Amino acid sequence: MIRFKSFKRGLVLSATLLCFGLLATATQAQTPAEFQAVVDKAHAKYLPLQEGANADYIPILTETPSDLFGVVIVTREGKVYSAGDVDYVFSIQSVSKPFTAALVMTQQGTEAVRDKIGVEPTGMAFNSKMALELYDARSVNPLVNAGAIAAVSLVQAKSEEERWNLVMQNISDFAGRPLTVLEKVYDSEYTTAFGNRAIANNLYNYGRLYSDPEEALRVYTRQCSIGVNAKDLAVMGATLANLGLNPLTNKRVMPAKDVPELLAIMATAGFYDESGDWMYDAGLPAKTGVGGGIVAVVPQRFAIATFSARLNEAGNSIRGLRAIRDIAGELGVGVYGPNPE
Ligand code: DON
Repeated sequence: MIRFKSFKRGLVLSATLLCFGLLATATQAQTPAEFQAVVDKAHAKYLPLQEGANADYIPILTETPSDLFGVVIVTREGKVYSAGDVDYVFSIQSVSKPFTAALVMTQQGTEAVRDKIGVEPTGMAFNSKMALELYDARSVNPLVNAGAIAAVSLVQAKSEEERWNLVMQNISDFAGRPLTVLEKVYDSEYTTAFGNRAIANNLYNYGRLYSDPEEALRVYTRQCSIGVNAKDLAVMGATLANLGLNPLTNKRVMPAKDVPELLAIMATAGFYDESGDWMYDAGLPAKTGVGGGIVAVVPQRFAIATFSARLNEAGNSIRGLRAIRDIAGELGVGVYGPNPE
């Protein structure tokens, strides 16, 4: 009996030690020097890479200097590690989409996003009109253009001005500073937005748009034209890593309980028809934009953001996605566990 008791005590002790060991490994923090080293290494490795091309379907985006490249990590404690062109201001484009979905969640709960927009990845291009015809949900998910226009239309507001102010204030709150619209980008995109106008009208026709279609298109296009730098994107991601509390301003921007659902959509649809490849390689929820920005979130730890305007066929920044993939692999922070070398 005595022997059995001490055996049991031994088991409990070993199990406790094992748990502490696992916990210590799971929460093992990188040192500032390690963070800075991986950022510097990824920046140096991909700086010479010339593959890809600026987006040109929004004419002004061809003018973004293609050689610029910035990589930045912001932790949930607000520590910043950066290399390269992290202060250059470019248009946020689709990186804005999860943050307006967050606003809809904050106003109306996560089920409103599922019921009124959808949460399935399309496996198709971000501007696909075919996806609207194939899926009963029509808008499909808030990270493709259709779902993002629907999300803007869902924001509860009494006027276009109020809708815009809510969208803009929310994205500024995520970034931790007042942002402004790049008016030339807005003009360039709005005057050529024939595809998105067709999507907005189609959604309205199907009863899946919740405001006047042209109003939703204008506010969506302005949202995509907001100027940010790579550091802003990393702070926005770090706010998600910090469960909705901005680490720089300490302002609560969305409810902590809704963050997992938002990250789930970013994991399954953040890279559009490349989302499977992306999760296979990097294992991190993320969002890209045709302005050249990407933000990836290591839940409850930190965010990695990049800026480089040259894109691949899916509209994702080539240097950016490779840099983040490398950093995630080196730090072993993919959400499904470390990548053994
Ligand atoms: O609506 C559009 O086409 C652009 N404002 C945003 C698309 C975008 O950023 C796709 N992302 N990689």
